[in-house]
Amino acid sequence: MGFKESVPSLTNPVHPILSTELYPRDMTTPIPSPTRIPFLGNAASLDRDMPYQSMNLLAKEYGEIYQLTIISRKILVVSSQRLVNEVSDESRFRKMVAGGLANVRLVAGDGLFTAHVPGDENWYIAHRLLMPAFSPTATQGMYGDMMDIISQLVLKWERYGPEYAIDPVADFTRLTLDALMLCSMNYRLNSFYREETHPFITSLGDFLFQCMTRANTPAIVNALKLKTQAQFEEDQRVLNSLVDEVLDERKAHPIDKNDLLNLMLNGVDKETGKKLPEQTIKYNLLTFFIAGHETTSGMLTFAIYHLLKNPEAMRKLREEIETQIGDRVVSVKDVNKLPYLIAVMRETLRLTPSIPQRGTSAIEDTTVADGKFAVPKGMNIIVNISAAHRDPLVWGNDADVFRPERMLDGKFEALPSNAWQPFGNGMRACIGRAFAWQEVQLALITLLQKFDFVLDDPSYDLHVKQALSIKPASLRIHAIPRAGQGRLLAVPSSTLLRGAMTPKDHAQVGAAEGTAQQSLYVLYGSNTGSAEAFAQRIASVAASHGFRASIGTLDSATAHVPADGPVVIITASYEGKPTDNAAHFVEWICSLKDNEMSKVVYAVFGCGNRDWVQTYQRIPKLCDDILAAHGAERIVPRGEGDASSGNFFESFDTWEAQLWGTLDKKYETKMLDTSIAGLDIKTVDPGTARAEILRQPDASLGTVIKNELLTAPGAPVKRHIEFELPEHMTYRAGDYLGILPINPARDVRRVLARFGLSAEQEVVVASNGPTSLPTNKAVNLFTLFSGYVELSQPATKRDLVVMTDATTTEASKKSLREYTATYSERVFGRRLSILDILEDHLDIKLSLGTFLSMLPSMRIRQYSISSSPLWNPQHATLTISVIESPALSGRTEPFLGVASTYLAGLRPGDKVQLAVRASNVDFHPPSDPTIPLVMFCAGSGLAPMHGFLQERAMQKEAGREVASSLLFFGCRSPTDDFLYADSDLKMWAELGVVDVRPAFSKSSQHSGGCKHVQDRVWHDRTDVKEAYQAGCKFYVCGAGKVAAGVKEVLIAIIKEINPQADDAHAVEIFYDITSDRYATDIFE
Ligand SMILES: Cc1cc2nc3c(=O)[nH]c(=O)nc-3n(C[C@H](O)[C@H](O)[C@H](O)COP(=O)(O)OP(=O)(O)OC[C@H]3O[C@@H](n4cnc5c(N)ncnc54)[C@H](O)[C@@H]3O)c2cc1C
Ligand code: HEM
Ligand SMILES: Cc1cc2nc3c(=O)[nH]c(=O)nc-3n(C[C@H](O)[C@H](O)[C@H](O)COP(=O)(O)O)c2cc1C
Repeated sequence: MGFKESVPSLTNPVHPILSTELYPRDMTTPIPSPTRIPFLGNAASLDRDMPYQSMNLLAKEYGEIYQLTIISRKILVVSSQRLVNEVSDESRFRKMVAGGLANVRLVAGDGLFTAHVPGDENWYIAHRLLMPAFSPTATQGMYGDMMDIISQLVLKWERYGPEYAIDPVADFTRLTLDALMLCSMNYRLNSFYREETHPFITSLGDFLFQCMTRANTPAIVNALKLKTQAQFEEDQRVLNSLVDEVLDERKAHPIDKNDLLNLMLNGVDKETGKKLPEQTIKYNLLTFFIAGHETTSGMLTFAIYHLLKNPEAMRKLREEIETQIGDRVVSVKDVNKLPYLIAVMRETLRLTPSIPQRGTSAIEDTTVADGKFAVPKGMNIIVNISAAHRDPLVWGNDADVFRPERMLDGKFEALPSNAWQPFGNGMRACIGRAFAWQEVQLALITLLQKFDFVLDDPSYDLHVKQALSIKPASLRIHAIPRAGQGRLLAVPSSTLLRGAMTPKDHAQVGAAEGTAQQSLYVLYGSNTGSAEAFAQRIASVAASHGFRASIGTLDSATAHVPADGPVVIITASYEGKPTDNAAHFVEWICSLKDNEMSKVVYAVFGCGNRDWVQTYQRIPKLCDDILAAHGAERIVPRGEGDASSGNFFESFDTWEAQLWGTLDKKYETKMLDTSIAGLDIKTVDPGTARAEILRQPDASLGTVIKNELLTAPGAPVKRHIEFELPEHMTYRAGDYLGILPINPARDVRRVLARFGLSAEQEVVVASNGPTSLPTNKAVNLFTLFSGYVELSQPATKRDLVVMTDATTTEASKKSLREYTATYSERVFGRRLSILDILEDHLDIKLSLGTFLSMLPSMRIRQYSISSSPLWNPQHATLTISVIESPALSGRTEPFLGVASTYLAGLRPGDKVQLAVRASNVDFHPPSDPTIPLVMFCAGSGLAPMHGFLQERAMQKEAGREVASSLLFFGCRSPTDDFLYADSDLKMWAELGVVDVRPAFSKSSQHSGGCKHVQDRVWHDRTDVKEAYQAGCKFYVCGAGKVAAGVKEVLIAIIKEINPQADDAHAVEIFYDITSDRYATDIFE
């Protein structure tokens, strides 16, 4: 077999040793430790940019306590609630300023945050003097100043308008720093009055990032980086100069106010009679700048992110604000009065604590975990709050899920001690907690009153950037003013499709110019672009039917479904749930009352796939039913496209024709033009100057590391491909990679040859409606046909009509009419594409524009990731089947699958447009590795299972207790395509992580006579039953028929155990016992 075992990389230790150096007392257990790497110690196992995320992965691998050696520094990391609770005992442990925080002392010295206590006596003085300045009562007095800055933010976002992609981290940083400076120092930084980020904020961000990375790098390496060192020093100068400025101004213009600055300048400590020295005042000023705004702006951004990803929470919060506050300006009396808001804030800080870890150390030699592990005095202990906040023993199996309800109705108060600790501990806990708590409430209430929010990339999944605190990276949102018109917003369904669009394409589209007066609204819910492309088609031809079309995502119509024109909804479902850009809309319609929709006229078309038997077309059906139930007028019956059947496009065409027929009649609009979409193509360069058009910014390009054959010669090809992910992108085992492919060059050449064009020829495409083609910029024809359109989809009946109209000979007309008459068999059944037909009928004279407008836009393909981030968080592997087989159309050349052919041809170093997409929440290995997995798959359906097992193997090698899992795997024969059999699967079987049960369809004598997975399951049913008794989780991955076969055999096993149960009862038992324990991932 071609696939070789991967070589462990330095960033990725696979053979840990168990440290015995640390207090090897008789009574204690050695603390697990990842392998030390000479010179760097464990620093190499920490992601330089995101140590906290590396530490979380190590916690997943090694468990609740482990030891690291960073350079020569030894540290312990504790990650469970019980250990956090133990090290929060101030009689045994106290804060330790080490690592990155020790570097912050360069500018914050003995200020509150970085003081060594005991030792830095000024800490006590400042603590006693300043605590009152941040009491809840003092904070209430800051209401006016806080609202002043919040209103500056609101004004800015109103000015931006809905189409602007806002960077919330940048604007919340402006908000929190300005508010802190105004409230506590009476100083106006005026960040909202400058376009660029204030130099102080830039320097602070750089400085803190450097503090963190330098802590994980040997001093000599830091010193050798001369440029970075110079910048580090310059940043400190910028920080200190603002402090001097604030202080000098106050000295020059004293004011009579009990603010933080005056307390520091004039306050006398009652206990010692001392004042703070000027240098300590400066240190503390900077401390407040640092501690007081990064954290709060992080919290605000995370809160918006979580609310956007959790429509139910967003709806409940909006409802609370609407009922309790309505439109009036929030007052200080409202603070702490909105229980759901408080729950949202607590849950935000649980899942994404702005300061994810803190440092402590034992005051004397001691042990933790009931004496199990020895901890020496003074050793740095990292209290990994972000991991402990997800401890399944406290938060349950859904610890990774944002669920504010867990903080409501006394549940928060009933939590075990220190289970929730985002503000630190004891006497060194956060002094600004009340300040932040009030500011976040005022800001969130005001912003939700004023705006609806939409993610710029609906599939955005949290990437985190860490300095000392954490913040979402690359998050962009749109703020749509709630008051006013023109709300629809058409953000692309995926960033991978974004490059094709010019910003104008996504502005609201008043497609029809001139006479069209009747409004028409097209709303889409789409993840991979099919529904979006259909919506675009309707919007682009609307003008020719006399309608003025506006297009937007379903989410952008939440709570505002237009009533002044027909509304056309095109949406998909995913696992029975809405797409990423329709979730808020669906949540909202589910709470509609009475006849609220009585003025709405609508039609729904659903994109679905029958492989999802239980939830086929669930969301389109739901939208259709709910709108009708609440009084809306349905103008045509709901249409259905089944992506698995292949007549997907044909179904849409038929439904669309019916839609226009009805609309034209009902609105008595005038047909202006009968052509398909108006695409105008102009040649700007005959092909001498090649224009490189990149569809994606570098940020979403992955790099191919390796691409290896997994199968024997002659067997259907399967490959293993490893990618380095774009910066900040990481994943969970079980997630998908979305790939935007490029058509096989062979098929592009076929197009060019058929139209007699040069590959180098450059054109500019102009469109009178929305399109996913690159418009108004020069693009060469090879790029256009390679990257933007599908070439091999079966022609639809409408395509046949267009081609019939364009033919010049009777013979071709006749042939095309025959195709129409026998469409299912001769066109659809043979997957005859427009190109196939054009090649066979050279007298069809289609313009290039018409041809292009008939082609569906390029689809993203999803692939299950076949690796685990514990192996390498920045690399992901795929296990793919390459589609190359005799064409059903009868052409002599084989049929080539677009994406699989593209992937198969990649070479190391190639750049690929890709994005991680979160999978179904249940399709991940359980966080507790002692829960066995029972996995059923065939062919490349092995992909996610490979990732799960890799994760389990990493945990086992790290010394954790890991259950053995069962893998039922269907393939042809032991020699053809038994994927990873002599590499990973063998290694993991030897490790005791997996017991592989193959079923060989062409060599069943080697698999106990079992041909298919379901036969093997029946054969080994005693083991399946045993695993079930042991609390296993089931996973199925592969084609619909594998899933159906597995379900059937499991039901048969149930019947064998319960002979009295009839079929229906057995099915019932199946659903009953597998609920929460059975996850499926289906693909052909
Ligand atoms: C959630 C999910 C996870 C997935 N994970 C994986 C994975 O881990 N590994 C993997 O390999 N795939 C996976 N897939 C499938 C993958 O996304 C693609 O669908 C697959 O690779 C085919 O894409 P393609 O572009 O190569 O083929 P396409 O160009 O899309 O062609 C496929 C179409 O061509 C038709 N066709 C097939 N053979 C012929 C023929 N001989 N003549 C004419 N027409 C034909 C098929 O009916 C099908 O409609 C997954 C799919 C999903 C939805
Ligand atoms: C959501 C917002 C905030 C969070 C999550 C947060 C979190 C924390 C945490 C975890 C600590 C302890 C750090 C350690 O143990 O090393 C801390 C300390 C501190 N925080 Fe905050 N903080 C927030 C907002 C603020 C604000 C608004 C201010 C100032 C107005 C502030 C000022 C401080 C100071 C001065 C300390 C040091 C206290 C001491 O050791 O005496 N914080 N904060
Ligand atoms: C992971 C996954 C889950 C799906 N779940 C469903 C489902 O529950 N019901 C359904 O009808 N279709 C389901 N489908 C099919 C999609 O809805 C269908 O492919 C649709 O055309 C996608 O539209 P889009 O490209 O606009 O996102 C699923 C597809 C995938 C990849």
